[in-house]
Amino acid sequence: MPNVRITDVSPRDGLQNESAMIAAADKAQLVRLLCAACVDEVEVTSFVSPKWVPQLGDAGAVLADLAASAPSPLTSRPLFSALVPNERGLDSALTFLQGPAALGKLSLFAAASETFSQKNTNGSISQVLERFVPVMHRIRALPHRILVRGYISCVVACPFEGLIAPAQVVDVAKKLIAMGVDEIDLGDTIGAATRETTRELLNIYAREIGLVTTASPVTLHLHDTFGHAADCVRVALDAGITSFDGSVAGLGGCPYASTPTRRAPGNIDTALLVNTVHAAGFTTHVDLDALACASQYARKLVQR
Ligand code: HMG
Ligand code: MG
Repeated sequence: MPNVRITDVSPRDGLQNESAMIAAADKAQLVRLLCAACVDEVEVTSFVSPKWVPQLGDAGAVLADLAASAPSPLTSRPLFSALVPNERGLDSALTFLQGPAALGKLSLFAAASETFSQKNTNGSISQVLERFVPVMHRIRALPHRILVRGYISCVVACPFEGLIAPAQVVDVAKKLIAMGVDEIDLGDTIGAATRETTRELLNIYAREIGLVTTASPVTLHLHDTFGHAADCVRVALDAGITSFDGSVAGLGGCPYASTPTRRAPGNIDTALLVNTVHAAGFTTHVDLDALACASQYARKLVQR
């Protein structure tokens, strides 16, 4: 059985959805604990507009803190990645592409839903893809190779438009692949996916593009709003996917799915993800005891 690649996105996707403002030093400590848990990649932060996501306005401070604490805890560490929505974000990220806490991957993010694209990034799908063209050119002109992830949000459903046709996802993926991204990340943004919708999407994607045997293999990014994420992982493993995102302690929680009395779960909890992968007979590099420490720390940070 192949090894499954685990990315923990809690410092970015988890904390961007938390109302509490967490100190940069505490976020950096969470990243260190995730490194100790031997995940393959940590999505450390996001270089987006602080007017849109104030929780991540400290991207530079988090990376500077990590760089200051290296090399001892970070000698052999996971890949670090961060989101970049436009050239302005790339300008900020450039400072952090070298040094002990260097980012090895930048993640562009588009959507398969027009309404979500407007609400999340203030542009249509094609306008957002246009923004990526100069960003990609500049990344590819750098003296060393930086990997690029191309996220697609709302691959199953959109909080505003409802169900999204797999053909729309395939269309956006083909455009990102034509730009030269190294990986496509399929995001079930609101945790709407079920076994059936995941199977249908992956079947169509495999037929039209290919899931793993392409230059831009697929990672699956599940949110666990309705408790279906582990089922979807099993379906995806069957389909041949060997790369998944999770969030330690299930940090995050979709604001569209939360009620005043119950906070909806966020991304699939990384521990549930890893246990599901192991139970299906695959291996990971993750140390579950160390992951539990990271999870405990994450819960404390968001006071749960
Ligand atoms: P805009 O308002 O159209 O941008 O937003 P603009 O270019 O007109 O600039 C407006 C102001 O923002 C200007 O400042 C810019 O300098 C500043 P002012 O002159 O008014 O003082 N600005 C920036 N500042 C810092 N960094 C930047 C940046 N860009 C502009 N990069 C924009 C367009 C894309 C910037 C905005 O919509 C944005 O930042 N959106 C981010 C939304 C976001 O982060 N969403 C969450 C991530 S996606 C996600 O979670 C889904 C995922 O998890 C997968 C899944 O689950 O499906 C990935
Ligand atoms: Mg997400």
